[in-house]
Amino acid sequence: MPDRYAVIGHPIAHSKSPLIHGLFAQATGQDMRYEAIDGGAEAGGFGRALAAFRAAGGRGVNVTLPFKLEALAAAGEASDDARLAGAANALRFDGDRVQACNFDGIGLARDIEVNLGLPLAGRRVLLLGAGGAARGALLPLARAGARRIAIANRTAAKAASLARELAPHLPGSCILSGGALADLPAGETFDLVLNATSASLSAGTPAVPPGAFAPGALAYDMVYGQGLTPFLQLAQAAGATRVADGAGMLVEQAAEAFAWWRGMRPDTRQVLSMLQSRS
Ligand code: ATR
Repeated sequence: MPDRYAVIGHPIAHSKSPLIHGLFAQATGQDMRYEAIDGGAEAGGFGRALAAFRAAGGRGVNVTLPFKLEALAAAGEASDDARLAGAANALRFDGDRVQACNFDGIGLARDIEVNLGLPLAGRRVLLLGAGGAARGALLPLARAGARRIAIANRTAAKAASLARELAPHLPGSCILSGGALADLPAGETFDLVLNATSASLSAGTPAVPPGAFAPGALAYDMVYGQGLTPFLQLAQAAGATRVADGAGMLVEQAAEAFAWWRGMRPDTRQVLSMLQSRS
């Protein structure tokens, strides 16, 4: 009997996780099955789906929108990344124990540093958005050595409060600020501009000031899709010389979860190139 894993979300039909984990399992020779489960729109749907999957012998799950907060609440133990993000994207079942992790931020940092070849140490980062995605990215970026992180959000107060809340957990060498885009000092430039808003999902884009991009800067959109996202198109027009969407982050966070469940980290390069040529 193969060990069973799943991703739970709503909607879930478009999820690439079954494909990614299927390829990892094949490449590493692991006897496992990975399926997609729709938690539905009704209240309590996630809890019911999780309980049913555990009762059927499931060993662990990935969790995606809109259940990442509930996933953390369902766990008895949580990693620092999950606690500080206030959300979990992976659960592991060990008898009665449910453990939670959040690999989104580490997946992002790894994609930027390893796949895209931009070491984060000493970099200046503009983080657009102050919701769950931005919260999850902050600590891994700072831990990787970013020396300046400016959180800019449409609702400035939310960015300011996120910066205040997480500042004590960041290395002291990282200069953190939170506010509106308009609050940034005139002429400040960034090596990395990250879109962590949900705007691309609705085909909108947050404003990006022309001139925010340092020479050779990377614009990164945490979502991914067909072709360039609206944010990446805008970033290119505003002077970003390099652009990337979140496909690499998705594959890298999957590899972290796979390693946590199975004790071995799969090679991500082949899967990433397949995914990019398929999407
Ligand atoms: P997630 O968990 O995906 O981050 P969220 O917690 O709902 O989702 O946060 C969404 C983020 O995208 C917020 O920072 C939001 O800005 P506000 O705090 O001002 O609402 C941002 N956002 C969504 N649509 C946007 C748009 N069209 N332009 C700019 N920012 C947008």
